[in-house]
Amino acid sequence: MTALPTAIDHAARYRQHLAACGYQAKPATEWDARAAQSSWRRRHDDYTEAFLARLDLRNVASVLDVGCGPGLLTLPIARQVAEVHALDYSAGMLAGLRAAASAEGVHNVHSWQRSWEEDWDDIPNCDVAIASRSLMVPDLAAALAKLDGHARQRACITFSTGPRSGVPELAALLGRHWTPMPDHRYPINLLLDMGREPHVDYLPVSVRDSSQDVDDLLRQAAGLFDALDARDEGRIRDWHAASPSHRLGLAPTRRWAFISWQTGD
Ligand SMILES: C[S@@+](CC[C@H](N)C(=O)[O-])C[C@H]1O[C@@H](n2cnc3c(N)ncnc32)[C@H](O)[C@@H]1O
Repeated sequence: MTALPTAIDHAARYRQHLAACGYQAKPATEWDARAAQSSWRRRHDDYTEAFLARLDLRNVASVLDVGCGPGLLTLPIARQVAEVHALDYSAGMLAGLRAAASAEGVHNVHSWQRSWEEDWDDIPNCDVAIASRSLMVPDLAAALAKLDGHARQRACITFSTGPRSGVPELAALLGRHWTPMPDHRYPINLLLDMGREPHVDYLPVSVRDSSQDVDDLLRQAAGLFDALDARDEGRIRDWHAASPSHRLGLAPTRRWAFISWQTGD
């Protein structure tokens, strides 16, 4: 008989995967700068709608929203429950959230400037805890356990299923070595290791419905692959020009897995 291979330590494997991608944790100030982007809301409408359609808020009085950003989910959720605790480490994101809440007359949102890593002892446990697109953290196992511990009934997260479409093609076009970030298999396995039963659903991919500007594509490519030389730029321009209606390029967002599980003892 062949012996079973050693059990996989998913938490360690996730950390190794992050290291292989050259991942560096972002400081909150990087998100502060992005909070100001006026296109946030419009670009993320499809995602927000798909997330809310899967979030069951029946018999739910309180929700904890971790990595809430400017509140694309926080505010619609606050209209359906008695109170929402919204947590983010970015002061800019929380300022955006508070401005939007007051403009929309929403008064039951409590905001907390806090990171995944800091102490949450003073943050109340809620019926449901969510973390939407906010789990690219150095210690995923610890973050999932923390979210789980703050949810009396259920927790829901979204985690990317892979890179945005267009990125692998662009890496191949430029001949760059590129390792995709960890995907949703990690939280699923970590939840199973925690003794939870994750339910997995997939959000539809947002479709780019307008042509993509070549300069925008060049900017995004430089952000992904560092300095582009004249040959790289030429290849990207040709790639863009050859695509029907200039629609070939980077998808606006990724495909997200919606993962939920029952918490409590
Ligand atoms: C992509 S946005 C998602 C916002 C919102 N949840 C949504 O789906 O629309 C990620 C958010 O997570 C926050 N975030 C990232 N890392 C964090 C950390 N370590 N602790 C707390 N918040 C964090 C960022 O400031 C940002 O607001």
